[in-house]
Amino acid sequence: MTATAAPATRRLELPPCDHVPRPYTGPSREEILAMRRQFTNPAIFTLYREPLLIVEGHMQYLYDETGRRYLDLFAGIVTVSVGHCHPKVTRAMEAQLETLQHTTTIYLHPGFALLAKKLASKMPPGLDVTYFTSSGSEANDLAITMARLYTGHADVIALRNAYHGGSPSALGLTSHHTWKYPSSGDGRVHHAVNPDPFRSPFDGTPEEIATKSAGDIREIIRYSTPGKIAAFICEPIQGVGGATRGARNYLREAYAVAREHGGLCIADEVQTGFGRTGEHYWGFEHYGVVPDFVTMAKGFGNGAPLGAVTTRMDIARSLTQRLHFNTFGGNPVSMAAGLAVLDVIDDEGIQENARLRGAQLAAGLTRLQRHHALIGDVRGMGLMIGVELVADRATKQPAKSQTLDLLEHARELGVLIGKGGLDGNVLRIKPPMCVTAADVEFTIDVLDRALSAVE
Ligand SMILES: Cc1ncc(COP(=O)(O)O)c(C=O)c1O
Repeated sequence: MTATAAPATRRLELPPCDHVPRPYTGPSREEILAMRRQFTNPAIFTLYREPLLIVEGHMQYLYDETGRRYLDLFAGIVTVSVGHCHPKVTRAMEAQLETLQHTTTIYLHPGFALLAKKLASKMPPGLDVTYFTSSGSEANDLAITMARLYTGHADVIALRNAYHGGSPSALGLTSHHTWKYPSSGDGRVHHAVNPDPFRSPFDGTPEEIATKSAGDIREIIRYSTPGKIAAFICEPIQGVGGATRGARNYLREAYAVAREHGGLCIADEVQTGFGRTGEHYWGFEHYGVVPDFVTMAKGFGNGAPLGAVTTRMDIARSLTQRLHFNTFGGNPVSMAAGLAVLDVIDDEGIQENARLRGAQLAAGLTRLQRHHALIGDVRGMGLMIGVELVADRATKQPAKSQTLDLLEHARELGVLIGKGGLDGNVLRIKPPMCVTAADVEFTIDVLDRALSAVE
């Protein structure tokens, strides 16, 4: 049954766009696929049954080799924050590329110092010392390393359903069996119950579930650690996990338990940072807490390989016990990208757009939920939205195959959506934050049509 005025026969049209993609002259899709199959690691996966070849991007749109335009609601996995090839970011990177492509932190360079200073201006007072990396995994690795050095403790509490990266130590923090290799892990990481109410083992209101989930951290510390911990790490809204989060009281209570046991608190803002949640620049602000570390990547560079961990000077000093170096951390082109991205977020009202378009999306999705039994839950904040599909609302059985079918239908209709959650049954809607009201309307029409097709 359909929810909106999008009869199955009406042609759904992408909102107009002036951009004209260049003719594509590279190898064919089949040739690329064959080369990938022969020469690249088979663990590197693609999304659709017929993998999509993407050759150009313009703001919230992507183009395939035939020039067909798609509305990108996944943003290169939540990485294109202000728009594909945003002209100001592109110009800043080009200017830097033409001047000096690479130098490392063994010499002085203005970009490195300027970006660290600018980032400090976006943080709560005291959180003003940054180490740049080129990925989120490295940023989390470093935060854990510093927490262990500073506290002298080894144990770390992360949350079930978390994703913190693919490096061996970040995989230890990650909590999905689907990502973990038998050899990966870190024996000193323990996973506490995630506070999201939809699949919580605890009963009660979202606030009560948050309190009980924070209580689980205390129990883990009592049973599985020497009673002291190095750190508690948490995504303010779980990204790969499917936009899951706890009630507003969760982080306050969780941080209190962690700190009571000597732990430092790490906010993994790799997906939630830079205004994506709409109400706030950082996801942790929603909960009224101040972490000891903020880790970030993805949207920070709008596609440039740029990550960072920001902390307090007293904690940062712990790393000076030994030499530490990162070849691409502080790369001038990445610094130029970061500086331009922060400017664009401020100058173009990006955070406010995330708030407004996020509210519009959430309202449209909630409307669809009334008519499509497949939608079990609509959640998230701003432009970080998850739609959990269930085969049965009573049992909450994950609708895995319907999710895959729905992604295919949406793609045929011109919309690219992501997928997440432990069972791969959550639609992840996290577009470049420049999407318009017309894009959101189109998305809701497309989802309405696609849901009807797979139900
Ligand atoms: C919340 C979160 N933290 C860390 C990472 C790891 O970042 P990267 O892939 O840049 O290493 C990711 C990647 O998806 C993430 O979503």
